[in-house]
This record gives sequence, structure tokens and C-alpha cells, in this order.
Amino acid sequence: MASLHTEICDVLGIKHPILQGGMGPYKTEDLAIAVTNAGALGVISCIGMAATLLPDAAPIDAVRLFGTDPPPIILQKSIEAVTKGTKGSRGVFGVNIPVASEFLLASEMFARGVVEAMESDSDIERSLRVVVTSAGNPTPWAQLKKQGLIWAHVVPSVYHAKKAEKAGTDVIVASGHEGGAHVSWDPVHSMVLVPAVAKAVKTPVVAAGGFCDGNTLAAALCLGAKGVQMGTRFIATKESDFEPIWKQAIIEREERQTLVGRGLFGPMRFIRNKRAESIVKQTLEDVPRFYLGEPLDSNEAILKLERDGFEDLIDAKADTALMFGGEAVGRIEDLPTVRQLIDEIISDAAKIIQSLPNQVITK
Ligand SMILES: Cc1cc2nc3c(=O)[nH]c(=O)nc-3n(C[C@H](O)[C@H](O)[C@H](O)COP(=O)(O)O)c2cc1C
Repeated sequence: MASLHTEICDVLGIKHPILQGGMGPYKTEDLAIAVTNAGALGVISCIGMAATLLPDAAPIDAVRLFGTDPPPIILQKSIEAVTKGTKGSRGVFGVNIPVASEFLLASEMFARGVVEAMESDSDIERSLRVVVTSAGNPTPWAQLKKQGLIWAHVVPSVYHAKKAEKAGTDVIVASGHEGGAHVSWDPVHSMVLVPAVAKAVKTPVVAAGGFCDGNTLAAALCLGAKGVQMGTRFIATKESDFEPIWKQAIIEREERQTLVGRGLFGPMRFIRNKRAESIVKQTLEDVPRFYLGEPLDSNEAILKLERDGFEDLIDAKADTALMFGGEAVGRIEDLPTVRQLIDEIISDAAKIIQSLPNQVITK
């Protein structure tokens, strides 16, 4: 079995330099267990759990996905489940907390939940080692490090990477515009972003946005990153918590079939279908206020939304479901188990790196 060890393996305490991206609206609990047991970093996703606070205004059927517990209990149970599910492998995992300004109350609630879970049980304290903040200002979250957690923060630019380094992060995830779900309005792609961030900071950098196989992992290392974070690729795996139509859409789409339009906290990259097209149309028409494609342009519309709620977007048909995904959809054609996927990525990347001296003449 090939191995590929980088600085990020030591910083995070993982065997393979691969992180699973946090991915709402699911808890990504089953995925996190599978990824951690395969030697990479599994991550629980919090963002959808907050939907249970406003079930009628959330774009998902929160009760179907999470039951009726309040968010801190959902998180606690999820942390317990991943701790139990990974105990045999003695792997480590993380929790992703988006810290966008629109979400701050929920972020604080989840950060408290992580700390309380660690304090509640020695197995949790051993295995829940990482917190990945994203989508906002890192500075107030340095307190998480004081709790003994390893702190990674996701950034879309050199400016934000320097800010994250100043705040004291242990790992910086540089996320290019190819990536699925939230992206920056400024479309800087991984090929430019990753080497620029790696040059600008001393903190180890993980590359995200478009990474999905051995070629792209090897490329990330050449660009100066110490590992990759993958979202879209992990959705299309046997164990991932996502609905079958979402997995199928990723396998079927080619690389041109994603679209960026206005989403929750700024723009998001969607898998192309009729619904994504209509969101992009509204974005271009600059409809003054709307939320994931539903116009919020009058008090009447807001009242209607509060009264009727959203249809469950994920449960809808493939044409109308609202699904996020990155350009890597064009490079994903199968539905492996997580272990098969990770083993193949590591073995391919190692082969590519080993074969380079035979392919290139250097003087
Ligand atoms: C369906 C989906 C949901 C996502 N949700 C989150 C999230 O809740 N928090 C977060 O920090 N990033 C989120 N992301 C971004 C991923 O964590 C990851 O950085 C990104 O997918 C990397 O790009 P890739 O899709 O090309 O692999 C999401 C991505 C996808 C595809």
C-alpha cells in the first residue's frame, strides 16, 4: 500500500494528507466516520443543524434530516456517533463551523457545543481534534485553540490567508473558485490561489476547489500545498450521507455543468439544472432580496414564506432539487467506497510523483 506523508499529516494527526470538506445541509456523520477510518480527516458539518431553529424558513426538511432535537443536542449526538464509529481505528476527526456574520449566533452555539462535548468524555477529547471555521472572519475564534483544538480556517484570497495567519490558525485551507457550494464573488481559481497563498504565509496550506484524484493531489503538492480538502468528490461515495439524486447528478454532469449564483452567505456554485438556471437568472437581474432562489422582495413575500415554508429542495426531482457541487463533477464518474477512493488517490499521487524524474529532464 503506497503512502504519502506531508507536514499536514503531523499537524492534524492523520495518515493521508486529505481532508473531507464540511458539507451542509447534511451532518456528514457517516461520511466523517468512513473518511476517518480510512486514515484521512473526517468532518462533521453543522450548518444544516441550525435549520431546526427555523424549520419553516429553511430550504430543507429539517425534521426529516435531523429530527426534533435542538441543534446543540444534534451536534452532541453526532460527535458521540463519530467518536464511537471511529474508536476502532483510533483516527481523529473535526467539526466544521461556518462563521459568516449572518450565522454568528449559531456559530457560537456550535463552538460551545464542541468544547462541551470534549469536556464530557475522554474518548471524544482524544478523537475530536480539529475545528474548521469558514465563510467569515477568523479573528474571534482563536479561543478554540485555547481549548486544545487544532484550528483550520478556509480562505478565498491571499488577503484572507494573511488575516487567518495573524489570528493564529494552525492550517489554512485555500479554496479556489472551482469548488462546490459557497465561493467568493471574486473568482480566483485554485491554480492561482494555492501557490499565491502558499507563498504569502508560513502556516501549512491545504488546497481546496477542484481536487478529486491522484493527479490533482500531486498537483496541489507541486503548488505548495501540504494536502487537499475535497467536497464534491466525497459526495459521490457509497457511505456519504447525500441523497441518491445528488450522487447521481455528480456522476452524470460534465465539467461545464455547474453555475454560480446568489446563495446563502454570498454566492454558491450549484450543479446545473432548471432550478440553478433560475437562480442565476435572478442573480443577473439583481432581484433585490432573495434567498436560495425564492424572491424576498416584499413583506408579503416574506410572510408567505413564513406561512408556507419551502418545499424540501433536496427531496424534489432531479430537475428542481437545489444541489451544490464543484467543477470536479466533470471528473467524477464512479461511486466507490471511501476507502477505495482514498487508497486510489494516494497510490496514484505517489506513482505520479515517483514517475516525474523519468518524464522530465532537469539540469
Ligand atoms: C454540497 C456542498 C456543501 C458544502 N457545505 C459547506 C459547509 O457547510 N461549510 C464549509 O465550510 N464548506 C462547505 N462546502 C465546501 C467544501 O467544504 C469544500 O471546501 C469544497 O467542496 C471544495 O471544493 P470541491 O467541491 O471542488 O471539492 C460545501 C461543498 C459542497 C459541495
